[in-house]
Amino acid sequence: MPSSSTELEETPVKAAAPAVEPKKKSKTPETLRGFRDVLADEQAAWEKVEELARSMTRAYGFNRIRMPVLEQTALFERSVGKDTDIVEKEMFTFVDQGGVKMTLRPEGTAQAARAYIEHGMVSQSQPVKLWYFEPFFRHERPQAGRYRQFYQWGLEAFGSDDPVVDAQIILMAQRFCRDLGLDVIVQVNSLGTPVSRKDYIAELAKYFKQHKKLLSETDLKRLTKNPLRLLDSKEPGMEALKADAPQIFDYLDEVSKQHFMKVLEYLDETEVPYALNPYLVRGLDYYTKTTFEIVLNTASSPELEGMALGGGGRYDGLVPLLGGRENTGGVGCAMGIERLVLAMKAANVMPPRRERTDVFFCQLGEGARRKGLAIYEKFREGGIAVGEAFGKGTLKAQLEIADKLKVPLAVILGQKEVLDGTIILRDMESGAQEIVDAAKVVGIVAKRLKDVADEKAAA
Ligand code: HAM
Repeated sequence: MPSSSTELEETPVKAAAPAVEPKKKSKTPETLRGFRDVLADEQAAWEKVEELARSMTRAYGFNRIRMPVLEQTALFERSVGKDTDIVEKEMFTFVDQGGVKMTLRPEGTAQAARAYIEHGMVSQSQPVKLWYFEPFFRHERPQAGRYRQFYQWGLEAFGSDDPVVDAQIILMAQRFCRDLGLDVIVQVNSLGTPVSRKDYIAELAKYFKQHKKLLSETDLKRLTKNPLRLLDSKEPGMEALKADAPQIFDYLDEVSKQHFMKVLEYLDETEVPYALNPYLVRGLDYYTKTTFEIVLNTASSPELEGMALGGGGRYDGLVPLLGGRENTGGVGCAMGIERLVLAMKAANVMPPRRERTDVFFCQLGEGARRKGLAIYEKFREGGIAVGEAFGKGTLKAQLEIADKLKVPLAVILGQKEVLDGTIILRDMESGAQEIVDAAKVVGIVAKRLKDVADEKAAA
């Protein structure tokens, strides 16, 4: 349990925030701006991504954690940083009926750190490796690949300051994209320790102050609040200004330099394609030393070129900042699932829909339909995927659907078969039919399907 001095107090607030209706009012309710439904055409891709996440994390010894969607607002204010875009303008924060201020989580690292401390994971063998696959919320301006609710596959390793852990996480993220059929490059940087960064920030601010006249209003705000964010600026004219700005590598202390060199050596060794990017500061305050992003290379889709599919870095100060044990290092990464699926679409590597039907069930008449429901369930229990069209009355209409599904077998149940306790088995290719015992039909169909599969394999 956290010590009392570090506990995140619930923040009681007197008045509830005024309710605002969505701007666009329509008779039929629609999804909120920036929120979306994931429909059937994307499900196979989402499943592939989730299965790969599951198998990679198992192979690398990560344990799953499921965390609540709501947290105390103070958790993100303290860890992500009060002057970041996320905390300043993107959090969905509200006051509940009990007057407590809470936030729909905008990211998972702070949460995972909170859980690590709260559940005493410091006493487990270190590093403690956690993963999650969950929705997060940011009130951003919606655009391609940017939503207000999005899913992340996150990896967090607490309790080690070894650069090999940084490299392992970068490797996992890059291989993950590669295995999905995506061409990516890892951009890496080091932000050093808070002490060395302080000197760098001072120099950076000095440099940009000399060029104040060339800065946009947004960048002037960054200059006073968070000068490091100027390196992230895409405002006109900034490319040239940044090129002459002091470089962070020149300000790294010896420990950070050594750490960074080691990470790069491991990446070289494992042939992870990377590029150094001294402007990669990331939008969250908790980073120390290594930062990285997994960026899409795609000539086929210019609007997605350069999009960050994921990002992460080391956060050695985070656990101590939230009241955990001093010197508890950490490093992690999160991949954006919607962006991965967009990239898979653009790269034409969407997996086919997973619809398997082994046998089609046709029924004629009310009695057959009633009996059919029970037989259908027997097939399901036997692991046989059955197609049906209980809503269709005629045999012709049902066989047409069976044809479209390209099933090798159909079973037909009419009034007579119900009375006799039999069922008709139809070979869809030859049209040959035979009457079999209804009680044994699941076993007979299973055997026929196996024969068909064996024939196919031998061909
Ligand atoms: P982040 O860079 O803010 O880092 O988000 C990671 C990834 O989540 C992004 O690269 C992107 O793919 C996806 N993402 C972020 N915002 C949106 C959005 N509005 N719509 C769609 N996708 C989005 C973090 O969240 C850190 N917690 C990562 C981390 C883990 N660092 C250390 N451990």
